[in-house]
Amino acid sequence: MQNAFPLFPESASTMSGQVDALTFFLTLVSGLMTLLIFATITILAIKYRRRSPNDPLPAPIHGSWLLESTWSIVPFLVMLIMFAWGARLFFDNYTPPVGAMEIFVVGKQWMWKVQHPEGQREINELHIPVGRPIMLTMASEDVIHSFFIPAFRVKHDVVPGVGRYSQLWFNATKVGDYHLFCAEYCGNQHSGMTGWIHVMEPADYQAWLSLHGGNATMAQAGETLFGQLGCATCHAPGATPPNLSLTNMYGHPVQLVGGATVLADENYIRESIINPRAKVVLGYPPVMPTYQGQVTEEGVLQLIAYIKSLSRPSERPAANNANAREGTKK
Ligand code: CUA
Repeated sequence: MQNAFPLFPESASTMSGQVDALTFFLTLVSGLMTLLIFATITILAIKYRRRSPNDPLPAPIHGSWLLESTWSIVPFLVMLIMFAWGARLFFDNYTPPVGAMEIFVVGKQWMWKVQHPEGQREINELHIPVGRPIMLTMASEDVIHSFFIPAFRVKHDVVPGVGRYSQLWFNATKVGDYHLFCAEYCGNQHSGMTGWIHVMEPADYQAWLSLHGGNATMAQAGETLFGQLGCATCHAPGATPPNLSLTNMYGHPVQLVGGATVLADENYIRESIINPRAKVVLGYPPVMPTYQGQVTEEGVLQLIAYIKSLSRPSERPAANNANAREGTKK
């Protein structure tokens, strides 16, 4: 239910109550401190004002150890509370739970393009089931955008280039439609880069999925692309050196030329497609050309989905969120 004058946006995720509580605490402390300081200044200025030109000058004060320590230590402790509370929320907010449902988002001027693993696609809309952790893996096709759902109290920049995928997760608690905004100025139609998150009952969501199904899944689309781009020439499943099979690569450590080891996750695969010379696998010549400009960000996500499908599912989640927590939110 909306107030006539809402102080907070609607609260519709497991995170939103906690973010509101912290915001309220910060505002309360700031308000109290402001009040305390200004009240003290006003009262002292009136009480100790110079009443006549003959008033003697006050005796100088040489400080008070006790007073100064108190007003240093008490605010320090209050700040530490803010720090600990904020840090906890921050890590919760940036660590998707294991088993979160993964959906892929590409931001571009000026729209949000969404792909579900089962192949459903949508633009400026995202259909999700209620009560289930959802993890978004996000990339940008052009400039920096920022994916912002006020009702869920989540916002994350989506950055172009060979950087990392942005990840964001939430668990919606209420069925309904919620605003989606781009929260980073990204050109003259930035303000129009909005959309809706549709939170549905699980059964309704299943119905929506099957109604909009029929496309190839992301992994199937990726397999097609894998053939079209010629990746299969060198990376066909079961290929033997000097060709490099990608079977069971995802989620495993990869030995690189120079001695380093990386975990083959989404970011590594994406980098290897866009900038193959950045991390060359030990024992293989650096002959792969870049595919920058030949494949869209959505295509890269499909290729990743396909490469993931070549690994045994039991081996996947670890790489997905190297730092994921066990279980979902209480
Ligand atoms: Cu995209 Cu602002």
